[in-house]
Amino acid sequence: MSLLGAVGLFGSGELDFLRGLLESHFEGQLGDGHTWIVDDNDVDQPVAIAYYAPERLTEGTWNLYLIAVHPDQRRMGRAESLIRHIEGVLAQSGARLLLVETAFAPLLAGAWALYKKCGYTQEARIANFYAAGVDKLIFTKPLATAPDSVGSPGVLIQES
Ligand SMILES: CC(C)(COP(=O)(O)OP(=O)(O)OC[C@H]1O[C@@H](n2cnc3c(N)ncnc32)[C@H](O)[C@@H]1OP(=O)(O)O)[C@@H](O)C(=O)NCCC(=O)NCCS
Repeated sequence: MSLLGAVGLFGSGELDFLRGLLESHFEGQLGDGHTWIVDDNDVDQPVAIAYYAPERLTEGTWNLYLIAVHPDQRRMGRAESLIRHIEGVLAQSGARLLLVETAFAPLLAGAWALYKKCGYTQEARIANFYAAGVDKLIFTKPLATAPDSVGSPGVLIQES
């Protein structure tokens, strides 16, 4: 949670939500496939985190719900490495499509650039989704084109 607090993107309500989500995960309540990955920078200090899960009522569609890197560790390829790892793991398990969703807000311009560099294309935009005037962008990538190598981004908290 200290990493998520340091990211600087999440307000107190969002951090409470993420804390509850993590607690549910460790209590085994999130369901099959819900996976958290932490990059520990090889020194047992979490510097990046990602969370992905299958989309309900789909065949092989997954959602990368969260990816965040500590401000001191950005632009070093950590997020890209995590995404490539997730894509590789999912592709090898037969998943077809990975989604990422963000708000259309200037604070998230780095995330859009990251997704585009990783080969995601903007598939949809839902006006006023998060709040009045705050749209949701949905990016997708077919996993058939994901690389074969799954790499090794750090500590896998759980893969199920
Ligand atoms: C977005 C975020 C995860 C990127 O993490 P990162 O480890 O710095 O990203 P990477 O170093 O892997 O960047 C890979 C590529 O993405 C693009 N990119 C990443 N951050 C960028 C930024 N701030 N501005 C422009 N391009 C950026 C670049 O093309 C970069 O390649 P390059 O450094 O060779 O130019 C990080 O800035 C972050 O944690 N932001 C706050 C949380 C967030 O917005 N999460 C996404 C929504 S949940």
